[in-house]
Amino acid sequence: MAEQVKSFFHEQTKTWSHVFIGADGRRAAIIDPVLDYEASSGRTQTNSVDALIAWFRERELTLEWILETHAHADHLSAAPHVKAALGGRLGIGDGIRKVQAGFKKIFNMNDLEPDGSVFDHLFADGERFEVGGTSFEVMATPGHTNDSVTYVADGHAFIGDTLFAPDFGSARCDFPGGDASELFSSIRKLYALGDDTRLYLCHDYAPEGREPRPWFSVAEQRQANRHVREETSEQEFVAMRTARDKDLPLPELIIPSVQVNVRAGHMPPPEDNGIAYIKVPVNTL
Ligand SMILES: [Fe+2]
Repeated sequence: MAEQVKSFFHEQTKTWSHVFIGADGRRAAIIDPVLDYEASSGRTQTNSVDALIAWFRERELTLEWILETHAHADHLSAAPHVKAALGGRLGIGDGIRKVQAGFKKIFNMNDLEPDGSVFDHLFADGERFEVGGTSFEVMATPGHTNDSVTYVADGHAFIGDTLFAPDFGSARCDFPGGDASELFSSIRKLYALGDDTRLYLCHDYAPEGREPRPWFSVAEQRQANRHVREETSEQEFVAMRTARDKDLPLPELIIPSVQVNVRAGHMPPPEDNGIAYIKVPVNTL
């Protein structure tokens, strides 16, 4: 059988974007596409995601879904650019409403209705949908954020930041709506998918010069994940996560990322001079 997943690595933010091709070999989904953003100038570029789009067009695939695993805090979503180029519907977990409500307050986003309506579809836990004849199930995997979901199909699971590579561990739980014991339960849900399931990462920070990898099997994670192995207790995990999160600096792009990503990848509306601005809340985050 032809390879069903093609993954693209965004070096600057260490993000994996994935293309999943359905059983019919024609229709596909794109998971977590990335927009290039330079914080010093406020300039966006589409060079990275354009390579993915070119690959997609070369294969004459049809895009059914753009899937976000969560509202990312460390890179900007390229969903609007992908949709303009290839079509498709944009989906995210229905927990996005809580994330929108939280950041709407912090950034005073008067243009944003925190009801998820800027996305085309909000996925509920357990919901099913299809990509080119392959059936997907949505699994709520909160803990890193309220809206984190895993998209599961046919031995493949797109897990967002529910886990990182075994040698890096797990994602922080100290963003608004984060919760270490929820993350532990979500990771256990991934481990219950069965040893051969491929867990596709949203990031690989690839320590000590290792080559980034787009996925690890459940078996690899259960045996070797430095934060959650088969034998790790919830108590141990929560204690480790809580202690660790106290000292982590915020991601470099958190301020632009959350403002754009809760708007489904759109910039804030332009002001009366025609320019859109990203805000910085002083002494708040
Ligand atoms: Fe994240």
